[in-house]
Amino acid sequence: MTTLDSRTLAVHAPGPDHGEWWRDAVIYQVYPRSFADANGDGIGDLPGITGRLDHLAALGVDAVWLSPFYRSPQADAGYDVSDYRDVDPLFGTLADFDALLTRAHDLGLKVVVDMVPNHSSDEHVWFQEALRTEPGSPERARYLFREGKGADGELPPNNWQSIFGGPAWTRLSEERHGTADRQWYLHMFDSKQPDLDWTNPEVRAEFESVLRFWLDRGVDGFRIDVAHGMVKADGLPDWDGHVSMIDGTDDAADGDPESVSGGGGNQGPMFDQDGVHEIYRAWRRILDEYDGDRMLVAEAWVDPLSRLARYVRPDEMHQAFNFAFLATGWNAPALREIIAASYQVNDSVGAPTTWVLSNHDVVRHPSRLGLPTPGDRPNGIGRTDPQPDEELGLRRGRAASLLLLGLPGSAYLYQGEELGLPEHTSLDDELREDPAFFRTNGAERGRDGCRVPLPWEADAPAMGYSPTGLTWLPQPEEWKAYAADVQTGQDGSTLELYRETLRLRRELGLGLGGMVWAEEYAGTDQVIAFRNRDVLVVANLGSTPVPLPTGAQVLLSSGLTGDADPGDELPGDTTVWLRLG
Ligand code: GLC
Repeated sequence: MTTLDSRTLAVHAPGPDHGEWWRDAVIYQVYPRSFADANGDGIGDLPGITGRLDHLAALGVDAVWLSPFYRSPQADAGYDVSDYRDVDPLFGTLADFDALLTRAHDLGLKVVVDMVPNHSSDEHVWFQEALRTEPGSPERARYLFREGKGADGELPPNNWQSIFGGPAWTRLSEERHGTADRQWYLHMFDSKQPDLDWTNPEVRAEFESVLRFWLDRGVDGFRIDVAHGMVKADGLPDWDGHVSMIDGTDDAADGDPESVSGGGGNQGPMFDQDGVHEIYRAWRRILDEYDGDRMLVAEAWVDPLSRLARYVRPDEMHQAFNFAFLATGWNAPALREIIAASYQVNDSVGAPTTWVLSNHDVVRHPSRLGLPTPGDRPNGIGRTDPQPDEELGLRRGRAASLLLLGLPGSAYLYQGEELGLPEHTSLDDELREDPAFFRTNGAERGRDGCRVPLPWEADAPAMGYSPTGLTWLPQPEEWKAYAADVQTGQDGSTLELYRETLRLRRELGLGLGGMVWAEEYAGTDQVIAFRNRDVLVVANLGSTPVPLPTGAQVLLSSGLTGDADPGDELPGDTTVWLRLG
C-alpha cells in the first residue's frame, strides 16, 4: 500500500492567466494522409482537412497540429522532407494550406505545423548536391559523411543503430548514389533520411529561414520532430545502448524527478546533448519577434523528466510532450509519481505540463490498455500477436482520457481517439508501409495500425473518408460502429463524452487549475484522485469498485453505455468527475 505524505498533497498551484493560449490548450493532432481525402485518390489531403475542421471546432479543441504535408518522397510518411517550403502535390498546394489556415482561424482554432530538422530526405536538393561533390566539400558538410573503418573503409564509422532497426550508416556506391568515393552517411532513421550536421552554421541559417517562411504565412507554432537528436556528441563515439523512441523501459519510478523516467530511455551520444539548447534559444528569439502568441513544442524522448524540463526553460521552447504518462501503463502508484514529478519539474521552469496518450507513433491507447499486460508498448500489433480485449480497452481508454483531461496543463489528442478508435491489429503484412517493419524484417509490425483512415460516416464509401472509396490502408469493417455520424448525438458515446469533457474543462478553467491529491484515497493502490478547482477527479484503475464520497454530484463518468450510474461506488476501470458540494 502506498501512503501519500499529507505534506505533499498539494502538487501544483493554479496558474495565473497571462492569456497565453498554449498553456492550457487542448491540441488535436491531424495526420494528413489519414484524416479526410477530398480528391478521392485514397490519401488524405489539405482540402479534406479544411472540409472537416467544423468537426474539430464542435469537439471543442483549441488548436490543430498537422503532421508533415511538405514535399516528400514519403519514405517515412512525410517525415522525410525534400522541400521545407512547399506542399507535396499528394496533399495539395500552398494555396490549399493558406485556405486551411484561414478557415481554422475563422473557427477560432490555432494551427501548429511539424518541423523536421534532424534529417532531410535524401531527395532534398542539399543531399543531391552532396552526392555530386567530393568528400570534404561544403555540400557534404551539411550532413554527417564520414570515412569507414577497416582496411578499405568497409566498416561503418561507429556502431550506432537506426531507430528503425539496422545500422545507422549507409555507404555510398556508384550503383546507388552515382559517387566514385565510398564515404558513409549517418541516418538515425531510414537510409532515405540523412541526418543534418547541426554544427554547420549554414544548416542553422536555413532552418531559421524555414521557420520564418511559415511564421510569415501565419502559423501559430511548430512541433519539433526529434528535438533531442539534432546535436551529436563530438567524435561520434560508439555506444552499446538501445535506441528506440517507442519501446522505452518502464522503470519503476521512485518519485524523485531526478530519476523518474520520461519513457524514452534515450541517453546515448546521439541524444539530448547540451548543444541542442542553443538552437532552441535562437528559435525562441525568432518566434518572439512575431506578433500573436507563437509556440514551440518539443518531441523529445529523454530521461529523466528533469532533463525534459531543460527544453522548456523560459528562453527555450514553450512545451514538451510528456511521454512519461503515455509510457506508464495502467498502474495507479506509478502514474501518481509521474504526475507529481511532471508538475515539479515543469513548475520549476514555469512551463505548463503536457499530457498525451496517443499519437501516430504508438499503438492507440485503448488497444494498449486492452493488452494482456495493460500498458505494454509493442511497436505495432499484428494478426498473430497477442490481441487486445476491445471492450476492456475501450473502458480503460475512456477512463484514461477522462483522467488526463482533468489534469491542469495542456493536452494532446490524436485523431480518432475522440471516437474511441482501437488500433487496426489485423492488417496484412503486405500492406504495411512503415520503414520500421522492413528494417526489422517484420520483427516490429510498425506504426501503420494507428494510421488507418478515419471513419466519418458508417455507410458512405470508405466510411466517409474518401468519395471514391479508396483508402491507402484498409479500414476494418468493425470501425463502422465507431464512425463519427453514428456517435453524434448518441448519449454515452465516446465522441459525446469527449465533447462534454472538453466543454466542462474549458468552462471550469481546469487547464489553468491546480492539483491537490484527494486525501481520502491516499491509502489505496488502485485509485488516482485529485482536486482541480471545484472538481474531484477519481480514477479507479483496479477491477473492483471503490467507494465514492456521498452527496457529490457526478459531472462526468467514463463508464460505457449500459453501465449503472455510479452511485456510492465507482466500478473498476472507470473515471468520474465530481462536483464538490
Ligand atoms: C518522429 C516522428 C516519427 C518519425 C521520426 C523520424 O519521432 O514522430 O513519425 O518517423 O520522428 O522523423
